[in-house]
Amino acid sequence: MLLHLPHVLSPEALARCRTIVETADWEDGRITAGTQSTQVKNNRQLPEESQAAQTARAIVLASLSTCALFFTGALPKKIFPPLFNRYDGAANSFGNHIDNSIRTWAATGAHVRTDLSATLFLSDPSEYEGGELVIEDTFGKQAIKLAAGDMILYPSSSLHQVAPVTRGTRLASFFWIESMVRDDAQRKLLFDMDMAIMAVRAAESADAMDSTPAVQLTGCYHNLLRMWADT
Ligand code: NI
Repeated sequence: MLLHLPHVLSPEALARCRTIVETADWEDGRITAGTQSTQVKNNRQLPEESQAAQTARAIVLASLSTCALFFTGALPKKIFPPLFNRYDGAANSFGNHIDNSIRTWAATGAHVRTDLSATLFLSDPSEYEGGELVIEDTFGKQAIKLAAGDMILYPSSSLHQVAPVTRGTRLASFFWIESMVRDDAQRKLLFDMDMAIMAVRAAESADAMDSTPAVQLTGCYHNLLRMWADT
């Protein structure tokens, strides 16, 4: 499932992130690439432990913590600390690859199994040409280019690339999520059910809330989550 999350960053949070990353020192993105992806990766990143990365990361994590759609879509168990990348000039693309299955945070040695990959766009599409995130999913190739502050969640098992940026600069935050529900199909079913329950609830009158199909459906949702979740 590809899930578009609009307005993950407020305009104010986006502006603060932009100010931080625009004045930071960048390094070659191959520092976090695996053996295969290092052959095709040509971008820049903020050093993981730099002050700029830590400050911008805190803004991203605080914004995520208030995003209900992120919780229901990802059912997050662990979040790899968000990183930041930049595509422009001669370092402007990332060829086809599948993300490493396990990421280890160098500072702590903590592991995260990558069930979901996230790209949070920090540049507006009008600021650059190219730079689409091209993801191959079950319905073919999807070219993703979202408004600044919006985020895409996609299965980390997907083949994907970032098309060359031919004008301007594409800034983004990226990270991985280990989900309480490892299987993408099960997670999608739970998400679809949650959306349907919200629609049913919205259609029901407030005084009918206690003995309605919404209660039974909510129970089914939690019983499925209980069956499948690993916390
Ligand atoms: Ni990737």
